Amino acid sequence: MLTNQKILEITKQFPTPFYIYDEKIILDRCQQLKSEIGQYSNTQFLYAIKANPNPHLAKIIIDQDFGIDAVSINEVKMGLHSGCDPEKIMYTENNISDSEMHEAAKLGVLINFNSLTRLKKFGQSYPNSKVCLRFNPNVGAGSHDTNITGGPNCKFGISYKMIPEIKEILAIYNLNLVGIHQHIGSGWLTEKEPLIALDVILDIANQFENLEFIDFGGGFGVPYSPEEKPLDLNNLGKKFNQKMQQFNRDKSNQVKLIFEPGRFPIAESGQLITQVTAVKRMPHEKTFIGTDTGMNHLMRPALYDSYHPIENLSNPEGELETYDVVGNICECADVFAKDRELPHVSENDYLSIQIAGAYGTSMSNLYHLRSIPTELLYTKDGKIKVIRKSQTFEELLLPYS
Ligand code: LLP
Repeated sequence: MLTNQKILEITKQFPTPFYIYDEKIILDRCQQLKSEIGQYSNTQFLYAIKANPNPHLAKIIIDQDFGIDAVSINEVKMGLHSGCDPEKIMYTENNISDSEMHEAAKLGVLINFNSLTRLKKFGQSYPNSKVCLRFNPNVGAGSHDTNITGGPNCKFGISYKMIPEIKEILAIYNLNLVGIHQHIGSGWLTEKEPLIALDVILDIANQFENLEFIDFGGGFGVPYSPEEKPLDLNNLGKKFNQKMQQFNRDKSNQVKLIFEPGRFPIAESGQLITQVTAVKRMPHEKTFIGTDTGMNHLMRPALYDSYHPIENLSNPEGELETYDVVGNICECADVFAKDRELPHVSENDYLSIQIAGAYGTSMSNLYHLRSIPTELLYTKDGKIKVIRKSQTFEELLLPYS
């Protein structure tokens, strides 16, 4: 297990900030998904690689018999590079260009269409091909308003009201609709909406013949704050299984059920390790803890006001005090935690910002020309591996040459 003591040792070898991932946690979460959510016997998991596209991490997940859910051509290529079979990659397109469409077709991955305009264009170029369609189930759930991707105000998916038009396009170009898809949102910790959404997609499925699969999407949340309760995945898996059994009754083929978890397999494995560069006491007001990282390395608190647990690795038994933990970026939004109780923090202490494995590095950027942090893997046999190097200034110059 990756202990805090071990991380402190690692800081002697690697300068902060860095991300560190615990392989064992990734393996545990993949296993949990398979045994609890995957109770329906014909289930396939696709890792939503947008959560963390590091090929070393993706490979660990692919080796657990996961495919890849990709949303850009480079994600498709990263899936292939990480060792995924093209047949197990789904490209969920989102306003893609003609050239991206042709590249995906050339790479031999199935495209999940998000609009009828694009479906038609694909049909014109590639008649007689297999396709998947993303529907908007009109029900959504997510950890934050902007993470809800089902419902009338959201840009994703095709309305079920367009089924007659869909059937016409499929017939004109002799396209083979092998699967239908939905994704109601990200980071939900509830059962109600996902179960309604499954009913909706199964209703839609009943209006098409010879489907090979139904793709439910991803979204399985993890508790970030102490108030949040984990999902009862076992119970949810049982209910999904019942609904699928019922759906298959009177059908000759057993439709496959696909899930696309991104956050769940990887979020809890990752921590962002940072060193305290300043302790700034405002008389009678707040005390700010300045760190050597920032919102460019972990955007979630600034973007969604999301909670990430923070630990003071250097002084875990210290007296509790209330702090705002902030970064080194010239933006007022550059805050990791407001009014957070932490054991007394001093300059040079090491802090761990936790549950940062998903949507951490994948959403990080080079603002202020600060390089994206090094990523380290703590392997299941206790070794430290560098799985991504932070850019040097010379490397930052390369695109300009
Ligand atoms: N499938 C599709 C089509 C998606 O759009 C997404 C996430 C997933 C699967 C995976 O969802 P997950 O299992 O990770 O919840 N940046 C936000 C999350 C945005 C997710 C976008 N789509 C965050 O940091 O919370």
